Amino acid sequence: MLSAAFDLKSGQLILVALLLMIGAFYSGTFFGNNSPIYVPQSTSNSSFYSSSSPSSSGSSRFTNRVALTYRKTPLLISEFGVDVCPLEFNEYIPCHDVSYVNTLRSSLDLSRREELERHCPPLEKRLFCLVPPPKDYKIPIRWPSSRDYVWRSNVNHTHLAEVKGGQNWVHEMNQLWWFPGGGTHFKHGAPEYIQRLGNMTTNETGDLRSAGVFQVLDVGCGVASFSAYLLPLDIQTMSFAPKDGHENQIQFALERGIGAMISAISTKQLPYPSNSFEMVHCSRCRVDWHENDGILLKELDRLLRYNGYFVYSAPPAYRKDKDFPIIWDKLVNLTSAMCWKLIARKVQTAIWIKQENQSCLLHNAEQNLFNVCDPDYDSGTSWNKPLRNCIILGTSRSDSQKLPPRPERLSVYSGGLNAIGINEERFISDTIFWQDQVSHYYRLMNVNKTDIRNVMDMNALIGGFAVALNTFPVWVMNVVPASMNNSLSAIYDRGLIGAFHDWCEPFSTYPRTYDLLHANHLFSHYQNHGEGCLLEDIMLEMDRILRPQGFIIIRDSEQITSRITDVAPKFLWEVESHLLENEQKKMDSVLIARKKFWAIL
Ligand SMILES: *[C@@H]1O[C@H](CO)[C@@H](O)[C@H](O)[C@H]1NC(C)=O
Ligand SMILES: *[C@@H]1O[C@H](CO)[C@@H](O)[C@H](O)[C@H]1NC(C)=O
Ligand SMILES: *[C@@H]1O[C@H](CO)[C@@H](O)[C@H](O)[C@H]1NC(C)=O
Ligand SMILES: *[C@@H]1O[C@H](CO)[C@@H](O)[C@H](O)[C@H]1NC(C)=O
Ligand SMILES: *[C@@H]1O[C@H](CO)[C@@H](O)[C@H](O)[C@H]1NC(C)=O
Ligand SMILES: *[C@@H]1O[C@H](CO)[C@@H](O)[C@H](O)[C@H]1NC(C)=O
Ligand SMILES: *[C@@H]1O[C@H](CO)[C@@H](O)[C@H](O)[C@H]1NC(C)=O
Ligand SMILES: *[C@@H]1O[C@H](CO)[C@@H](O)[C@H](O)[C@H]1NC(C)=O
Repeated sequence: MLSAAFDLKSGQLILVALLLMIGAFYSGTFFGNNSPIYVPQSTSNSSFYSSSSPSSSGSSRFTNRVALTYRKTPLLISEFGVDVCPLEFNEYIPCHDVSYVNTLRSSLDLSRREELERHCPPLEKRLFCLVPPPKDYKIPIRWPSSRDYVWRSNVNHTHLAEVKGGQNWVHEMNQLWWFPGGGTHFKHGAPEYIQRLGNMTTNETGDLRSAGVFQVLDVGCGVASFSAYLLPLDIQTMSFAPKDGHENQIQFALERGIGAMISAISTKQLPYPSNSFEMVHCSRCRVDWHENDGILLKELDRLLRYNGYFVYSAPPAYRKDKDFPIIWDKLVNLTSAMCWKLIARKVQTAIWIKQENQSCLLHNAEQNLFNVCDPDYDSGTSWNKPLRNCIILGTSRSDSQKLPPRPERLSVYSGGLNAIGINEERFISDTIFWQDQVSHYYRLMNVNKTDIRNVMDMNALIGGFAVALNTFPVWVMNVVPASMNNSLSAIYDRGLIGAFHDWCEPFSTYPRTYDLLHANHLFSHYQNHGEGCLLEDIMLEMDRILRPQGFIIIRDSEQITSRITDVAPKFLWEVESHLLENEQKKMDSVLIARKKFWAIL
């Protein structure tokens, strides 16, 4: 039955699937229950159809102990290596830990759903142990097959299939999950829905690309099928959803090889820069836009570029029962006060455009239809900034609507860069530099391009690394540390996606979600940031978010890379040290580390 599923595809797909099985784990009991075991890739070529044939010859035992270990100050790592967390912590996300958030509930604004935002436990309440894979974890199926199929045991949650199967989000299929590409408002598949949105934004004359859409923010993205089916149009999507009743939706998205992160629009600015998207999409995204004087719509106004669209597919847009008409009226009032124009309302979808009409904005501001933000609301990095109920007037990046389409957009030098000390000459040499580095990296990793899909540049600067990967079968999360200058706006102006983050805290993602992490001078930036972002803290977080057999590329000072080389074995990483020329033609120390594929047997 399984092979029938794959027969629909090319023969190559079958080959891919078989190769993956080699890395599969067996739930043998040869070594007792407590010790993590490294099973080398070559121990078995037995078929994955027979799940009951343990083949542990060649397995090796580690000295690391399984123990629930918290972060202590000072940070000490045992001579046996970093402890391994007990199996039940296989989905541990420190800043979205339900049991910790429950202890805070009385101090949270539940009416604004503050409990869905990030809440990082204090250091001594964070685990300091390696997050193990779940039982029967398998190396993920590779892109593009992964768009439609992922291993069931890797995301062993049936809730979504039970409640959303009827809407064609996801179905169970033997050892796999099957994603037919549906969603609540696109039961008949995302491609048809995307075509309809194209029709609605162009008066039936074109598609979303011709409507000028190249970068999309998908709010409450589900399993991110919308993003997956925008890729053929070369439209990049930042998808996010909270960790809520829709169990593990972001984990499914990432397992599929689709860019996504955990986030919630609630009381703080989203970690994305202003003027970055040509479309914000909400398909039954479970956000009450009409509440609190439209404060959340004002956050969308911050994120949207001029002439960008807000696409809203939810009952108030089409139903006349209950209180939906009242909600609709509120939405119409709020959006017209912000000078958004309703351009289409059809089937189950309404679309507004954020007009570039300064006279309307000034007029409505004078009429007190909205408050105008102080300039500091839109300065620096949007990280941990409480939302204010105001509109940003007179954007500093008013040239943003003149951006060319992708892929030309990749080489846009945006004006803001000059202000942070990057001139056009440096921008161009940076682009060339990263093209070279990427080819060195793939040679040193000695890996097939198709083995790497989910990539994070942990200190992305102006996105040169991601631009160099543009023709590879990957997507890149460009992270700009919140304590750095805002270069993320420039990254978005190049048609790429990313987020601000503070690496003194864990990232908002599930364990085992990236194939490759790039840390270019990340450790040196955090060298004196104190407890919480010591070298070992960042290594632990890297290990958590990296898939087994995933790669880490670390470029930094010799002092830092040699320390990492020393402690890497305690994290069960294999490391190779290399030298590569940097932009100043000096030698940079470059580590290629690989996370071993181990499990608690
Ligand atoms: C590996 O494959 C060979 C050839 O197909 C077969 O003879 C052998 O029994 C297999 N080994 C295991 C452990 O399945
Ligand atoms: C998946 O979860 C179910 C119930 O939660 C459990 O019975 C089953 O053993 C799990 N399967 C694996 C492979 O972990
Ligand atoms: C979009 O418009 C085209 C041209 O009018 C039409 O053929 C197509 O069926 C429309 N698609 C949808 C999903 O409405
Ligand atoms: C579609 O055409 C109508 C009438 O010509 C016009 O008013 C409207 O702005 C157009 N909509 C779009 C999205 O171009
Ligand atoms: C919308 O605005 C109008 C005029 O300002 C006002 O009379 C009406 O009550 C508002 N409707 C809602 C639902 O807020
Ligand atoms: C700008 O807004 C004003 C007031 O809402 C409106 O009268 C005018 O037509 C708008 N201009 C454009 C170019 O849409
Ligand atoms: C940040 O920008 C300032 C100029 O505004 C520049 O002097 C400084 O070097 C920049 N910092 C970094 C880390 O690039
Ligand atoms: C890459 O894939 C080819 C064929 O698909 C295979 O022969 C080769 O060994 C692979 N290389 C690596 C480094 O995995």
